[in-house]
Amino acid sequence: MAPKSIYRRISGELTDLENSDALRTVPQVENGADKILLFHNIPLLNLASNDYLGLAGNSMLKAEAVKAVEEYGCGAAASRLVTGNFSLYDKLEKELADFHGREDSMLFSSGYAANLAIMDAFADRNSLVFSDKLNHASILDGIRMSGAKQVRYKHNDLDHLEKRLEAFSGVESKILITDTIFSMDGDLARMERIADLCDRHDVMLVVDEAHAEGVFGSGRGFCREAGVADRVDLHMGAFSKAFGSLGGAVSGSSELISYLRNKGRSFVFSTALPPAVIGASLAALLLVRSDPSRGEKLLAMSRELKGYLESLGFNCGDSQSQIIPVILGENALALKAQQLLREQGLYVAAIRPPTVPPGTARLRISLRADLTDSDLEMVRSAFGQLHKELSAWK
Ligand SMILES: Cc1ncc(COP(=O)(O)O)c(C=O)c1O
Repeated sequence: MAPKSIYRRISGELTDLENSDALRTVPQVENGADKILLFHNIPLLNLASNDYLGLAGNSMLKAEAVKAVEEYGCGAAASRLVTGNFSLYDKLEKELADFHGREDSMLFSSGYAANLAIMDAFADRNSLVFSDKLNHASILDGIRMSGAKQVRYKHNDLDHLEKRLEAFSGVESKILITDTIFSMDGDLARMERIADLCDRHDVMLVVDEAHAEGVFGSGRGFCREAGVADRVDLHMGAFSKAFGSLGGAVSGSSELISYLRNKGRSFVFSTALPPAVIGASLAALLLVRSDPSRGEKLLAMSRELKGYLESLGFNCGDSQSQIIPVILGENALALKAQQLLREQGLYVAAIRPPTVPPGTARLRISLRADLTDSDLEMVRSAFGQLHKELSAWK
């Protein structure tokens, strides 16, 4: 079959990506959620996954996943609104709502699907959505899908946000959505002032706590820690990160959740999560609820490591969480640094544009609570070596 004309554009774009060191491929990784992963069969310390509490391989989660499979089978086999339901599902939603002190909560097949549904349900062509410039891609995609006008404000610049809110004061349907931990920078949204601005300007406040749940606020997220949880209209989170499982979740008032259940297309038109995932997520939630110390330990560890990296002269941005960027600049430099760290026994992801702004390619260290003192010593020593080599590369 002759190649179709569209193939010319596709090949051209792939070549451009390759030439700018931006071509993505799936790495040869095995056991990628474990503390030690295998990269081309070489064991490396995993500082790239979002399994912040080390729960993905936890024996309780595994046992509950297996139990759920034995009781309910492997697949949900339909959308939740048709027959894709089982009592464990209802139980997890109730537990989650209770954990967050909300009237109701609902699950989605992923955090990505949850953000699509929120925007799709609550925003329309007549709405304005105020969105931090560094919000996660799933939020941007949701806004795009909703047809709403997006009003982006400079990252964490709340004076800029305030000006933009004032400029659109006449509009009735207004939503503000923000990550609470920004996933590529590890910095935190200024939630108290954001909540004040939303109250003053009559704006619905939605937070994406995907990276904060399980870690901040006794596992309930950063808004709890910042004392504004009760002022948030919708709290979005994900079981795919600190909870070591899969799925997105949204918590809020009964009315808002009922609306979301009716209007969120990624919920209505998609098969429900399988039983194993629900079993594991429920076990993770109960575990975090009964013992939030893993998150606290993780944050103390992060503060210490960030201090060390900065003392070497690395630029770690404004990270205040378990995600520590080491901002290097050019794509090629980030890839070379990633390779050097692999040789030192660490697996750290190199993150390049378009995931981060051009010229800010970086290593993204994603810490985990199960690191030992000797693991951390190895991390410090590898970055010490990287620091020595960097001056020779530049
Ligand atoms: C801030 C944020 N929100 C949402 C998501 C999507 O969550 P999931 O991976 O469960 O689809 C991510 C994923 O990385 C994220 O970083």
